[in-house]
Amino acid sequence: MGSFASWTVSPLERKPGDKWNFGASVTGLDLNNLATDDMDGLRNAVWQHKVVIVKGQHKLDPKKQWDLVRQLDPETTDEGTSPNDRRNGLLTRARCIPGAGNVRLFGKGFQGEDHYGYKNLTIERWLNHDWHVSPPSREAFESGITRFQRWHFDAPLYGDEPTWFTCLRTVRQPSGPDLTVEWADGSGLTMKTPPGLTAFFSSVQLYDMLSSEEKELVDHSWVEYAPHPFKWIAQCKSRNTGLGITGGGHLTEEELGEYDPAAVKKYPMVWVNPLTGEKAFQVHGACVRKLYLRKSKGEQPRIVENISEIHDFILGIQHRVLKPEYILLAPAEEGDLVIWDNYGLFHTAIDYPEKYGPRSMHKADTGGSVGPKGPVPIPSLY
Ligand SMILES: [Fe+2]
Repeated sequence: MGSFASWTVSPLERKPGDKWNFGASVTGLDLNNLATDDMDGLRNAVWQHKVVIVKGQHKLDPKKQWDLVRQLDPETTDEGTSPNDRRNGLLTRARCIPGAGNVRLFGKGFQGEDHYGYKNLTIERWLNHDWHVSPPSREAFESGITRFQRWHFDAPLYGDEPTWFTCLRTVRQPSGPDLTVEWADGSGLTMKTPPGLTAFFSSVQLYDMLSSEEKELVDHSWVEYAPHPFKWIAQCKSRNTGLGITGGGHLTEEELGEYDPAAVKKYPMVWVNPLTGEKAFQVHGACVRKLYLRKSKGEQPRIVENISEIHDFILGIQHRVLKPEYILLAPAEEGDLVIWDNYGLFHTAIDYPEKYGPRSMHKADTGGSVGPKGPVPIPSLY
């Protein structure tokens, strides 16, 4: 437990069987009135704990949420004016809160008579499982069977750098009996969750599971993302786990159209935490176009362009952590603001039936001032 002038950071408590090793809650902080020291302490708390649930921010002004996410990455030049599709291919339909930069409203159902300027808005369709290769039936879903929507980190993977942190406030939370998230991949794995939570796994914890030979390989290797990667996979189907895609459906180069070669992203496979030095295996496998594999600095990389081989390599690693015991369902309540380290975690939403009631979320991120740093730089030759 850490204490600051007026606020406290407490690691989340694990139940027997839980193996996730991150997450903390913060009490005694008013995000509408933050001092510079508080901001520095909060930033360090997120780099350290990876998910921080700031309790009791019912009255948080969306403009202050926008200030917060920018001050957490003080060098960001993001003014919140980019179109959303430059920010994150997953939320292109989301709505911005008027006057609050890139704070976006999403959720489900009736948002109230006046939700920060949105009058009598009903969000008819937020998530659904159309994206999954074999979604649960309507009846199964209504009876409480659901899926992880899409495991990812927040990044356009083209152009702007990923946000360092994402700030997500629960304004209105659904309620009702627990749902059952099923893997539906033949493993038989399931886990229970209350409705309306965000799930996380740690790419740092995943890295720590690798053998020393595997660590050497991923430390020296990198990936190249496709141009317009979310457009590239728009016609593809997700595996039922929500992690990775299955089968084909990628757009051809012609279908993808023109792109700016300078905006294509090459990122190390391993991202180093700037505060703790921890390493994360942080690869958005669905969007990867090429792997560059090598075990040491002097070696010529082996370039892998076969999509099945790319997916097998990445999922062969990530499936080790995609297990109920390593997944944190961040226990946010109405009014809480969750801040996470987007360079060290994967996250996903989980859909729920409408009868559980409306959900309103305010989400903010920025273009990162500096992109991810690997343990070994990518050679300039590539
Ligand atoms: Fe996200």
